[in-house]
Amino acid sequence: MKIKPVKTAIVGCGVISDAYLHTMINKFKILEVAGCCDRDQQKAQKMAQKYGLKVLSIEEILADTSIEIVVNLTTPGVHYAVSKQLLEAGKNVYTEKVLAVELAHAAELVQLADQKKLYLGAAPDTFLGSAAQTARYVVESGMLGEITSCYCAFTRDGDVLNRAYPFTAKPGGGIGFDVGIYSITALLSILGPVKEVSGVVRTRKPERPEYGLEHFGESFQVECENLMAGLLQFECGTVGNILFDSNSVFLLPEKPSLVLFGTLGILSMADPNNFGGEVRVILKGNSEPFVMQQSHAYTDECRGLGVAEMAWSMRLGRKNRANKEMAYHALELLHGLVSSGQTKANVVLKSSFEKTAPIPRGYAGQGAFEFIEEMELAG
Ligand SMILES: NC(=O)c1ccc[n+]([C@@H]2O[C@H](COP(=O)([O-])OP(=O)(O)OC[C@H]3O[C@@H](n4cnc5c(N)ncnc54)[C@H](O)[C@@H]3O)[C@@H](O)[C@H]2O)c1
Repeated sequence: MKIKPVKTAIVGCGVISDAYLHTMINKFKILEVAGCCDRDQQKAQKMAQKYGLKVLSIEEILADTSIEIVVNLTTPGVHYAVSKQLLEAGKNVYTEKVLAVELAHAAELVQLADQKKLYLGAAPDTFLGSAAQTARYVVESGMLGEITSCYCAFTRDGDVLNRAYPFTAKPGGGIGFDVGIYSITALLSILGPVKEVSGVVRTRKPERPEYGLEHFGESFQVECENLMAGLLQFECGTVGNILFDSNSVFLLPEKPSLVLFGTLGILSMADPNNFGGEVRVILKGNSEPFVMQQSHAYTDECRGLGVAEMAWSMRLGRKNRANKEMAYHALELLHGLVSSGQTKANVVLKSSFEKTAPIPRGYAGQGAFEFIEEMELAG
């Protein structure tokens, strides 16, 4: 069977587009990148020049029936409008997180994709990388027994972040929605859906001083959460604790905690914002961890892996792994934490999703065998 590459375009040529284009163009044969678009022509031209692409207007993308996937790399506040326009025009869409800022908008996108029988995928796709897949492999091997509890903590320094990336001070860009979602997605991919949550969510010191020559002495408002704590009850019985705080400090490289506790052992995952990293395991009867060998491929920065996996899924007619149902569930969970923080009552989640199969095991970082890595995505 001959597989035709999937013609793809990106909308949004900001900071993260560089990582996406690098991966999508150099790593995956299933993707053929047709062009890039940004409402800021200079940004579009810069990326087009760097990667030898055509600058396309949104109208050109919508009109070009040969473009099958459009990757939405705009800021969270415009994800809904851009994805909706693309889906309405019959495009399969892969969007950076979050699916939409408002849950009702995300529900509308999911429904629209279903109605039109289109694929809608969403980041984060780091859970498809070697570290999270290796962790899942360990859990599913039974080595750790039953996973009874888990916790994750992720801290950053909002004072740095909000100024470098203004969208992180806006709704949908706060520490939970922007960063916590990596830990949550990793946990969902291993443990499955969550049925109930309770949370405490704060915006500490919403007025912050501006720095820089242009706005020195002025202030700006943090319009989203910068502290989120919560309790998750997974359908499988695991109880989880989360803590996301951007009033603290950056540790570079970052060192978030993500730990699964089982009846027969404890597993510490790598940074869920990365594709690779060490997975450490302590088995019952021991007190020091061993580093589990990587069982899966994609150890390095690979943003766009979810797009390639979606392209393979389209060609093979199966459900994509970084799919809309899981992304919607993660978003409902985050909104559940916010509303629980307001009402001081537990929130029962309405959505669920089916865990997709793990990625078949690959030859991570084995030079000459790397061509086979992409074929794993067909599995
Ligand atoms: N910056 C990071 O390190 C990082 C990492 C992972 C994920 N992300 C995610 O990627 C997305 C983009 O982040 P970023 O840092 O690249 O932001 P950015 O602000 O650098 O880039 C966003 C781009 O989208 C363009 N844009 C906005 N609205 C548009 C529209 N309607 N039509 C066309 N173009 C439009 C802007 O002009 C801008 O160039 C966000 O969802 C973010 O959460 C960012």
